Amino acid sequence: MKHTILVTGSNGLLGQKIIYAALNNPEINLIATAIGANRTKEKSGYTYEELDIIDEQRIDFLFEKYKPNTLINTAASTNVDLCETNREQAKLLNADAVAFMAKACKKHNTHFIHLSTDFVFDGTQGPYDELAEPNPLSYYAQTKYDGEKILMQSDIAWSILRTIIIYGTVDDGQRSNVVLWTKKSLEQHQKINVITDQYRCPTLAEDLADACIQCAIKKAEGIFHVSGKDFMSIWQAAEITADFFHLDKSLMQPVTTAQLNQPAKRPLVTGFVIEKAKRILNYNPHSFTEGLEIVAGQLNKSEQ
Ligand SMILES: NC(=O)c1ccc[n+]([C@@H]2O[C@H](COP(=O)([O-])OP(=O)(O)OC[C@H]3O[C@@H](n4cnc5c(N)ncnc54)[C@H](OP(=O)(O)O)[C@@H]3O)[C@@H](O)[C@H]2O)c1
Repeated sequence: MKHTILVTGSNGLLGQKIIYAALNNPEINLIATAIGANRTKEKSGYTYEELDIIDEQRIDFLFEKYKPNTLINTAASTNVDLCETNREQAKLLNADAVAFMAKACKKHNTHFIHLSTDFVFDGTQGPYDELAEPNPLSYYAQTKYDGEKILMQSDIAWSILRTIIIYGTVDDGQRSNVVLWTKKSLEQHQKINVITDQYRCPTLAEDLADACIQCAIKKAEGIFHVSGKDFMSIWQAAEITADFFHLDKSLMQPVTTAQLNQPAKRPLVTGFVIEKAKRILNYNPHSFTEGLEIVAGQLNKSEQ
């Protein structure tokens, strides 16, 4: 029997990559869900349904219809600064909706895989392992941690995959990330302010999608830290990207977190210890440079 996975937020960066990863796996029956039309280029080999994750009735309806073995919740309010001002929306999507979906999982005995973030930590003691104590600094981070706690306090089968700045190509090109932003800005000869004092492990979207699928197939429960294996500052990530694509680095202006003064507070040093994911999920992420090669290959293909 095939393993039925229902994924939310399938128009997003990770959601799209989960579709492509599932298409390569004949054992998976994928139900991709998102708001409005399907924006993933590939439309065959899986089922698409509209789903707004705050619509409890629609969640119930789709769970009754497909009886998924696993739910992978990638949908979220992901704009960190917007969450600071639009608090109601952030709470609804990142916490309340998790409770709605957990209820459906309980009824249908579905394994709930939820995506969370390095921002649950305060950035004073990175790189972090799964036993580290969260201390969210922003409203986005608080709502993501609240979503985590809903699962931790539930009696369903749950997994929380925390990740760090995801990069990769997106079919509809609406959203950006550190790699696409650096590449596009420098190609257009625009000056960019790049943060020098925030340290991360950038994560290739394909690697994270594979970890989600492995987690589903292995029914691996608990918290997993799933990020890239290379630890670097955002400045270094932009610099490596600029070098890789032979772009003009003199357009990059160094700024500190304090100088940038964004609405939401960010943790300075995160990064993850990923040994648990390697051991239990067979997680084997690409290096950042290998990730850039994959992104470059996909961009070349889409331009042809
Ligand atoms: N991106 C990162 O750097 C990063 C870092 C750490 C953790 N994470 C976590 O990883 C997960 C995936 O991130 P991502 O980069 O793939 O985010 P993304 O590209 O912003 O995708 C999120 C998706 O959620 C959808 N969505 C928003 N509200 C919804 C609703 N009410 N119902 C259904 N779908 C809704 C959005 O739809 P539209 O496209 O139609 O707006 C979007 O496609 C999130 O949980 C995020 O918190 C991300």
